[in-house]
Amino acid sequence: MELSKITGQFTESIIRDMTRVALQHPGSINLAQGFPDFPAPESIKQAAIEAIQKDMNQYAVTWGITALREAIAAKALRHNHIKADPGKNITVTCGATEGMMVSLRAIINPGDEIIVFEPFYENYGPDSLLSGAKPRYIRLQPPDWSFDFDVLKKAFNAKTKAIVINTPNNPTGKVFTEEELRFIAGLCLEYDAIAVTDEIYEHIIYDGSRHVSIASLPEMADRSITINSISKTYSLTGWRVGWAIACERITREIRKVHDFMTVGAAAPLQVGAAFALSLGEEYYRWLAEFYRQARDTLYNALLETQLQPYKPAGAYYIMCEASDYMRQHQLPNSLELAYFLIKTIGIAAVPGSSFFSVPSCGQFQIRFCFCKSPDTLQKASSYLAKIAKTRGAV
Ligand SMILES: Cc1ncc(COP(=O)(O)O)c(C=O)c1O
Repeated sequence: MELSKITGQFTESIIRDMTRVALQHPGSINLAQGFPDFPAPESIKQAAIEAIQKDMNQYAVTWGITALREAIAAKALRHNHIKADPGKNITVTCGATEGMMVSLRAIINPGDEIIVFEPFYENYGPDSLLSGAKPRYIRLQPPDWSFDFDVLKKAFNAKTKAIVINTPNNPTGKVFTEEELRFIAGLCLEYDAIAVTDEIYEHIIYDGSRHVSIASLPEMADRSITINSISKTYSLTGWRVGWAIACERITREIRKVHDFMTVGAAAPLQVGAAFALSLGEEYYRWLAEFYRQARDTLYNALLETQLQPYKPAGAYYIMCEASDYMRQHQLPNSLELAYFLIKTIGIAAVPGSSFFSVPSCGQFQIRFCFCKSPDTLQKASSYLAKIAKTRGAV
């Protein structure tokens, strides 16, 4: 019996697979999947605990409890200059993951094209296929991960329904500049396309870079879907609470898909999320500084190795070029490199191939995450010293 032709076109997540590989190697450090190994803020956990103790055990309103949608609206105005009506423009989802899936399903018709920057967060490939869209990929070029404006302009055409933006970006750490976003916005207006933007790393940003939401640019409020979640900003990846902000017309469709896909996100955790979103600016300043130090620790350790790291401007990942090291150890591709690193130095990372539509385009790259405690990163640095430039021990 033939099963789905669509699911046959993609594999399970390599990122999450690398976590399983790490678990098979006791003592290894998982710098593959992006989740923190330190606790979330106590006050947020307490808010969710109290909700459970008050017997908040039943389905929440499908598009999210009112308190959370109000908190999202307030935060979007404060941090993103987006005006959102909690009743009309916000859908609470099971993480940004569901937010992206329901958003694409809500706007795509068979044959529509969507534009995706690559290297990309690996979910966007299956998201596009499952929504029936034909993706067109635009390359972000190292070292600054910029893109060619002319190439992007040529990719837009009458079939273009949407462009997926992820800023700050996973895996590259790129933070899209206002100039780039204005250019993209101009193309969306010219071709009647929607900007679907994943901004879950908005507060994890370094060296004076500035996060801009494309929805805040002139005429973009009605043609943007802004996706976010509590996973990265508040170190709560397992709670599965996210959201999508869009104009009323698009939100109506998003809510329908969401209703039948998941009914809703966990009710008591939405209470915790509402509390999280009310934290003051001090929290966000602490977060950015905490991750700047983490980035510097891992980046400096990688600089001493045979891998060549690109310094990220945002998010919590470092992409590296590994061609010299791979040649030396006769490793044919980045998947073999990832297995080799976990076996020989005890660090799990993600093969670059999983971030490209044509996997061989990332065959000499590898990504490490640094959303870990200072102790873990110190330990990881000592493991990385095994492949130090001068020693060449491994
Ligand atoms: C760019 C990006 N979007 C979405 C997600 C998943 O978000 P969530 O946990 O909110 O579903 C990740 C997780 O690593 C990510 O890097």
